[in-house]
Amino acid sequence: MALEQAARSGVVPGATLRADFPIFDRPHRSGRPLAFLDSAASSPKPRAVIDALADTYAHHYANVHRGIYELSEDATARFEGARRDLARFIGAPSEREVVFVRNATEAINLVAYSWGRANLRAGDRILSTEMEHHANLVPWQQLAAATGATIEYVRITDDGRLDLDDLRARLPGARLLAVTQVSNALGTINPVAEIAALAREAGAVTLLDAAQSVPHMPVDMAALGVDFAALSGHKMLGPSGIGALWGRRELLDAMPPFLTGGSMITRVTLEGAEWNEVPWRFEAGTPAIAEAVGLGAAVAYLESIGMDAVRAHERSLFEAAWAALTATPGIRLLGPSEPGEHAGVISFVVEGVHPHDVATILDTEAVAVRAGHHCAQPVMLRYDLPATTRASFSVFSDLDDIDRLTDAIAVVRRIFGTA
Ligand SMILES: Cc1ncc(COP(=O)(O)O)c(C=O)c1O
Repeated sequence: MALEQAARSGVVPGATLRADFPIFDRPHRSGRPLAFLDSAASSPKPRAVIDALADTYAHHYANVHRGIYELSEDATARFEGARRDLARFIGAPSEREVVFVRNATEAINLVAYSWGRANLRAGDRILSTEMEHHANLVPWQQLAAATGATIEYVRITDDGRLDLDDLRARLPGARLLAVTQVSNALGTINPVAEIAALAREAGAVTLLDAAQSVPHMPVDMAALGVDFAALSGHKMLGPSGIGALWGRRELLDAMPPFLTGGSMITRVTLEGAEWNEVPWRFEAGTPAIAEAVGLGAAVAYLESIGMDAVRAHERSLFEAAWAALTATPGIRLLGPSEPGEHAGVISFVVEGVHPHDVATILDTEAVAVRAGHHCAQPVMLRYDLPATTRASFSVFSDLDDIDRLTDAIAVVRRIFGTA
């Protein structure tokens, strides 16, 4: 199916797509081509996205939703067109359910401030998990502190899965479940449809952190059965400074504004104001106009490959990388080994070498990876590690990148005398 789609579109993921990404023309100081394995932090941009940004600023730029002239109407149509494209891409029943924000962090904060403060009271229970990025932890801790609600965390197993028995035990009486679809620190893909069904049965609202899933696999919010979802444009080949909150219409309609000011009102007097309809109620001030259009171009680029094909490609890279790293002595791998439960994000430790030293030596070999706690310090605590090294894939990644990674790890082990 995935291959059929790729064959139909003629765009096949892999190293040939690197020609679409101008960043790969930049020489690395080693003189070697760059093996870029850090798309989970932020992805390179294809020329189509860079061109959409430049073209918007050069030929279609004016403020949106306020000008009664051709150029502003043009900019507004392109901005709202990008909202429609993103809504279709994530399976939102209506584009009115897609709120443009700066990034996933802001999307989660919007829900915590608006829905959270309007709906939670002292004694209410919030559920998050030990697996979350700080962006899906700290806003809930702040919400609990502000409302008197309590917060609990679903445990993770030794092999990096969410403990669903622990989730079942904690769900009764919970008002909100904040959970990630893909862990940026472990690579785990959570069974979101099953989790959302359990939450719904228990009467809890589900917020999905989709920052690491939407760029890499087909995601259909309506089919998953979640209530809110957060994503970032910069992780899905799009510009930085633009992201989205998706929310079920009846929840968004009932929510008060988060930020207030221009654009989000219908009427203002010196005594007060009336709020605009959703999604504009949550888009105070001038939005990131060209960036939204650029995000629409990123969606078109991903759709030209097909998300089934993107997922199939990254899954096969995961299988190859996992096998190669398992065969390398002195490597500890984190997260599930089952390919269906693991995205194209591999977190590992080279025994006896600090992850920062690993990443520094890999960089001398022109292999770019991330080292650190990945903004998921509770995950590091859970596995009693200060940090890990993380390699992550995208549409342009290939088997050659995995060879470069394992060769560079061999250099690390020689330098540290652990080979
Ligand atoms: C799982 C996950 N959630 C949320 C975020 C936050 O994304 P942003 O920094 O774009 O708001 C990230 C970023 O790494 C992430 O990996």
